[in-house]
Amino acid sequence: MKCAKLMLTAAVLTLLGTSCLAVIVPLSSSFRVGFYNQTCPAAESIVRSTLISRFQSDIRLPARLIRLLFHECFVTGCDGSLLVTSTASNQAEKDAAPNLNVAGYDAVDAAKSALENACPGVVSCADIEVLLAREAVSLLGGPNITVPTGRLDARSSSASLAASTLPGLGTSVPGMIAAFAAKGFTTQDMVALLGAHTVGAAFCNSFSYRLYNFKGTNQSDPSMNSILLGKLRTVCPRSPVNPDPTVALDQGNNSINAFDSSFFRELLNGNGILEIDQAIAVHNQTAAIVAAYAANSTSGNSTAGNITVVPSLNFGSNFAQVFVKLSMLDVLTGGNSSATIRKNCAIIS
Ligand code: HEM
Repeated sequence: MKCAKLMLTAAVLTLLGTSCLAVIVPLSSSFRVGFYNQTCPAAESIVRSTLISRFQSDIRLPARLIRLLFHECFVTGCDGSLLVTSTASNQAEKDAAPNLNVAGYDAVDAAKSALENACPGVVSCADIEVLLAREAVSLLGGPNITVPTGRLDARSSSASLAASTLPGLGTSVPGMIAAFAAKGFTTQDMVALLGAHTVGAAFCNSFSYRLYNFKGTNQSDPSMNSILLGKLRTVCPRSPVNPDPTVALDQGNNSINAFDSSFFRELLNGNGILEIDQAIAVHNQTAAIVAAYAANSTSGNSTAGNITVVPSLNFGSNFAQVFVKLSMLDVLTGGNSSATIRKNCAIIS
């Protein structure tokens, strides 16, 4: 359990629930809710207005920013290392294979330049990523989340580290549980985090192997709903087309931009787009959690099909808790000489 590495404020403690209470370390003055209140009071509102104004012309942006934060924090922590551009002597995280479709960097840059105008040299790129993703969740109808700030930016970024740390597309449920456990997440945390797939889309390239030749069988993935299979084969032909089309990760009606629990209900019907999403609906370590979120139950036992639902699980509040946990992975804070506040998020300074 990695909770011991986190610096928690009282406000964050309540968000995280009781599972980390045994390993709480004292308050940190350099990493807390409202860190910029004195040094850049408008910081959080500047980030929010940047997102809202760019959302008008790019409705896919919020989902991209949520994904960007996951790919940022899972590799060496929430330290801005994903934002760095490769140089002749260093291939940066951004250019690792699992990151090639990650997007939203332009919004980070826009927020950074607005913040540099308002309060030069104060707000880190790492905090901007966290605040943008938190605003994105809220903008799409998800929970309002309070996050601590005061992260610093890393001075390094490694493509090979990103490639070896981010779980691959065909990773099994136990493999995924182990990868998340290595970062301090429980199985329930992992399922809640995967619930981020309630918004956004995937390129055919990310799942078409499930349609035509699943695990070398020359057949489709048997766990996929047959109506969905027919639909996806039309959108994603066997021979790839250019540009590659995209498909909503949550197949619920008009749900691509709604942060809700419909994603989990779709999984119960075999309508998961990504292999891992469908797999968590049937694996014995995760199925009950998926069913609980699908029922969005807040109290009592209930059943979905023949799966007994775990009582008292609420996707919105669980996601808020685990988002905070994600945003606190291995943060660099004041006094760390290997950390900085970059002027330009793409260039290590
Ligand atoms: C467990 C491992 C995970 C895998 C294997 C995975 C994989 C993927 C893939 C393949 C896509 C589609 C990318 C594309 O085709 O462009 C995607 C999209 C997305 N992922 Fe994940 N993901 C994982 C976990 C997460 C987590 C933990 C989060 C956030 C907390 C997240 C948030 C998103 C979002 C919001 C999108 C939609 C992005 C967009 O619309 O551009 N994912 N993910």
